[in-house]
Parts: sequence; structure tokens; C-alpha cells
Amino acid sequence: MENIGHTEFTFNSEDFERVRKLIHARAGISLADSKQNLVYSRLSRRIRKLGMRGFTQYLDFLERSHGEEWTEFTNALTTNLTSFFREAHHFDILREHLLSQPAGKIRLWSAASSTGEEPYSMAITACEAFNSECPPVEIIATDLDTQVLEKAARGVYSIDRIAGLSKERQKKHFMKGGGPNAGQCRVKEHLRRMVTFRQLNLLAPSWHIEGQFSAIFCRNVMIYFDKDTQYRVIAKLVRHLNPDGLLFAGHSESFFHAADLVRSCGKTVYRPVQNMKEAS
Ligand SMILES: C[S@@+](CC[C@H](N)C(=O)[O-])C[C@H]1O[C@@H](n2cnc3c(N)ncnc32)[C@H](O)[C@@H]1O
Repeated sequence: MENIGHTEFTFNSEDFERVRKLIHARAGISLADSKQNLVYSRLSRRIRKLGMRGFTQYLDFLERSHGEEWTEFTNALTTNLTSFFREAHHFDILREHLLSQPAGKIRLWSAASSTGEEPYSMAITACEAFNSECPPVEIIATDLDTQVLEKAARGVYSIDRIAGLSKERQKKHFMKGGGPNAGQCRVKEHLRRMVTFRQLNLLAPSWHIEGQFSAIFCRNVMIYFDKDTQYRVIAKLVRHLNPDGLLFAGHSESFFHAADLVRSCGKTVYRPVQNMKEAS
């Protein structure tokens, strides 16, 4: 079996296939052929840390292990790219949607929250919509990757992550660090109070999520899933949406293959079909 051009550890197409099957079964993530170098470099770190001889030994160990190594394995292979107010038009729509909701607690879900920029942007939107630091909104933020969730809950970011926000948003919602924390900022307490982070694998047979939401952001994660997996996940998400709820997707994700479940009602924003019929 040919080694795929790496020197420290032998890594051949059989190893890559094995990784591909394992991550697909675990997290629904479909790795393209072009991801061989990424897989090598991310998992090599783990192999080195465990002092193992190479991929075969590592993957045998992984398959025998129960919780912990699987968490490390999935953490290593997820792609966590995100930013504050990414796809800004969604937050304009969210603002209008929040203001149209009946009185009472409004529940929102960020279903692949990564390092937290998305749910905190939802929280800022809620503060602005209600002109309050204590709006009637609670946000559940979940992700598969435990490492990004830890970072999200800390709410500490490099200052350049908020450079694109207006001065007013920066001042109202972030504390800039001084001394040893210069160059960093922290999300203020009023935003952190609104968001609860927990781990959730969208592929798990049961989700420990109770109740209904007014809006679900499930953005830039479906692109890693094949169409059948996407369909199953959308079907489950829809069950957690209020009748007039909104499902937000990422810029390159379209759910037209799930037209019996959701209908587009704007740029990468969807409503549950059943509820559209009821409303018409
Ligand atoms: C590219 S980030 C998107 C972050 C954010 N939603 C955004 O649009 O900016 C994708 C996130 O999906 C998470 N993810 C991947 N597979 C998942 C799964 N099966 N269940 C839950 N989250 C998953 C990754 O850990 C990663 O943080």
C-alpha cells in the first residue's frame, strides 16, 4: 500500500478510508479525497501525544476505546470556522422575527455553535431588538466538539475577532483586556447569562433537547453531511420548531431536497412545511 507522501508516520489510502468511515459513522462528516493532508496533520498530533507508532496502532486503539479517545478524534477532525454576525442578513431577519413573537420567553437554538460567535451574535441581536440587556430570550448553543464549547463558554476572544463590529457594539457587549490580557476581549456577563452551552451530536439517535424554539440556526454544518443525513437532521430539527419558527441554514446549504419538510422563505431561511399549509 502506497504511503501518501508523509515522513513521520506511514499514512496510506487504507488508513484514510478507515478514518473516513469512522468519522462518517460517528459525526456524519463526509471527508472529501482532498482532505488527506488535513487528516494526516490533525491526527498525527494525537498519535505523537499518545506516543504511538502510527495510524494503524492509533485507529485500532480508537476502535477499542469508549468515550474519551472518540471525543479527541472528532474534535481533531471538525472544522470550526465562524465569526461574529457571519451572514449578517440572518440577524436582521432574526431581529424582525423576535419582535413579532408573542409576549413571554423566546427560545433560540444555535445547533452547531462552534466557538460561540454565532450564539453571542444572536444574543446581541436580542438585546438590540428589545433595547435591553435582559431581553426575554434564552439561547441554547450546542456543538459536537467539546473543545470549541469550552472556548465558547469562556467567551474570551482575540480583539481582532470583533474588529468588524461597530464601536457601539464593541463597547456595549465586550470588555477589553489590559496588562497580560491586552489584545483580548471578553463577552460581557449580560450576554453570557443568556446563552447555555452543551454538547450535542446532531447524528445521535436522541437529542437531549426539550421543547420548541422560535428559531434554530443550523448553519455551515450540513455541508459536511450527505443528503440522506441532512434530511434526517432537518426532520428532527423541524420537530423542535414552533409553528411559525424559522430555520436558518448556511450560505452554501440548500434544503430543496427536503421540500416536504421545509420551504424557503428568504435567502437560506426556511419555515416548516406543515405550518405553512396551516397558515395559508
Ligand atoms: C464551520 S462550523 C459553523 C459554525 C457556525 N454555525 C457558523 O455558521 O459560523 C461547523 C461546526 O459544526 C460542528 N459539527 C460537526 N459535526 C457535527 C455534528 N455531527 N453534530 C453537531 N455539531 C457538529 C463542528 O464541530 C463545528 O463547530
